Amino acid sequence: MNRVVISATGLYTAPQVITNAELVASYNSFAAQFNAAHAQEIAAEALIALEESSVDFIEKASGITRRYVIDKAGVLDPRRMRPKFSRRGNDEVSLQAEMAVAAGSQALAAAGRTPADIDAVICAASNMQRPYPAMAIEIQKALGIGQGYGFDMNVACSSATFALELAVNALRCATARTVLIVNPEICSAHLAWQDRDCHFIFGDVCTALVVERLDGATAANAWEVLGTRLATSFSNNIRNNAGFMSRCEDRDPADRDQLFVQEGRRVFKEVCPMAADHITRHLASLDLSPADVRRFWLHQANLAMNQLIGRRLLGREATSDEAPVILDEFANTASAGSIIAFHRHSADLAAGDVGLICSFGAGYSIGSVVVRKCSVVA
Ligand code: COA
Repeated sequence: MNRVVISATGLYTAPQVITNAELVASYNSFAAQFNAAHAQEIAAEALIALEESSVDFIEKASGITRRYVIDKAGVLDPRRMRPKFSRRGNDEVSLQAEMAVAAGSQALAAAGRTPADIDAVICAASNMQRPYPAMAIEIQKALGIGQGYGFDMNVACSSATFALELAVNALRCATARTVLIVNPEICSAHLAWQDRDCHFIFGDVCTALVVERLDGATAANAWEVLGTRLATSFSNNIRNNAGFMSRCEDRDPADRDQLFVQEGRRVFKEVCPMAADHITRHLASLDLSPADVRRFWLHQANLAMNQLIGRRLLGREATSDEAPVILDEFANTASAGSIIAFHRHSADLAAGDVGLICSFGAGYSIGSVVVRKCSVVA
């Protein structure tokens, strides 16, 4: 079977930043307006008053200090509390495709590849802007890729690692020579900004990966894929019920369950041991142990989760060099989080160093990819 490398990555960062202070000020203003408007029901105990959010809580509970978003004004407007996107016509490139083209072009350039080299585009993200035509096919066209195929896939926060396994298998079996994976995550559109339990969690971003056969790869910073491992186990603890049948069920698009909902504590307790166990078993199957791993690029949802997984793997705190954190700056960006960490924190490692990308999230789903830095390939 062919040996496979991740030859390059790309990152599109959404143009606007929301700090925790700005977010909390907007939420607290919304809560005050809500409480004033419902003062009678609250006094009659028919309704519970909304409590204030706090910067301190957000930073202690999550490690997040800010997030990038596509539309800050709509999110922070206490009368709106959701991004405002202008409608685009069918002849215009769609928003998710635009982000993917930006990240994808960067990754292609870094890999020394052109659109003519790409056999397949996988658009892997936790939400697609529309059901069809596939976002990946629009991205394929927008990038000027005149051959091959594209398809969309969604395994929530694990979409990127699951896509990596599909790409690696296609390359190993020689059904493709070079695959582009893009992860356009517009998390601001499915986040309940009016819910203080989770209003701080997400940000918008897009990552991209070029995956190709080792023979013929020319990138200076390539990583050979030693193995991939995927696992799922059904849970309702992270859920979003929005779908094409919502209107048939006479649901209001503003219903709380049409957006991201989670049992945060349960997710924390259940997913951390699953992820640590998954990683240990995956490494063992490759005759490796966590101590052999120079760097872990973990999913970026919550700092304490990553610290706990680090302790379970290493028997001590992982340093920020061993398990870099980007969620302080980006917040949770669903499938893109571990790829941003890889993009930002992989160039400094030496040839022969082993690293591990791991995602975990809704499903539950866990995906891990073990990689080894190549000597400069040519
Ligand atoms: N500001 C101030 N207080 C808040 C608050 C806010 N924004 N949000 C919640 N609180 C309060 C709660 O009401 C609760 O008060 P109580 O103890 O009086 O009931 C208290 O703070 C603790 O709330 P809780 O929701 O239990 O916090 P937590 O410590 O579990 O942290 C998460 C919440 C979401 C950060 C955390 O559970 C988490 O990150 N879980 C995993 C998330 C995850 O990875 N999801 C995957 C998505 S892909």
